[in-house]
Amino acid sequence: MTQDELKQAVAREAVNFVEPGLIGVGTGSTANYFIDELAKIKHKIDAAVASSEATAQRLMARGIRVIDLNQAGQLPLYVDGADEITEHLTMIKGGGGALTREKIVAAASDKFICIADHTKLVDVLGKFPLPIEVIPMARSYVARELVKLGGQPKLREGFVTDNGNVILDVHNLTIMNPVELESTLNQIVGVVTNGLFARRPADLALIGTPQGVTALK
Ligand code: 5RP
Repeated sequence: MTQDELKQAVAREAVNFVEPGLIGVGTGSTANYFIDELAKIKHKIDAAVASSEATAQRLMARGIRVIDLNQAGQLPLYVDGADEITEHLTMIKGGGGALTREKIVAAASDKFICIADHTKLVDVLGKFPLPIEVIPMARSYVARELVKLGGQPKLREGFVTDNGNVILDVHNLTIMNPVELESTLNQIVGVVTNGLFARRPADLALIGTPQGVTALK
């Protein structure tokens, strides 16, 4: 099976968890497959909350109503991909640059289902460069602070987030304590969000393998 087929398989599995009402929808290629599956059962849901402009566009193009999180209130379910995930369901996210809105929608959801192919499953987070959304004027300052923490930040060239900020991708981190590092990074002035999802991990991961979809919780 190709990686895309594995992503499609987990997307198909995830729609079985969709309840009538509202749903939060993530960003990225795996989330895009989920949107395609969601469109097939759109009569079951009232509306979706999108974690990015790209996701909002895709949902609307498939006839799914998109509403603002402020209008929606608490959501029963959020479905999104990940760049890396551990068996403890902590993740690195933000490869697509949507980490801030993803973290907000995840925080406002009762249940977070992560959908990913098996290449995303790791023992220790950090091989994938950790994305950090930064207020543009703080870029150099934040980069120096990240170097002090042992990372090697690189500006994501030519990329501006949906919130008008920049992304620093931090290389060379071996993240032994993701909860602690997530909090430490949040304390750096100028950081909007970091891509560690450890304080609010997923509740369930659906991992696509050549042998089928495995559930981790
Ligand atoms: C976007 C994300 C995505 O969930 C992550 O990058 C995984 O993307 P893909 O499903 O395309 O591999 O965090 O900000």
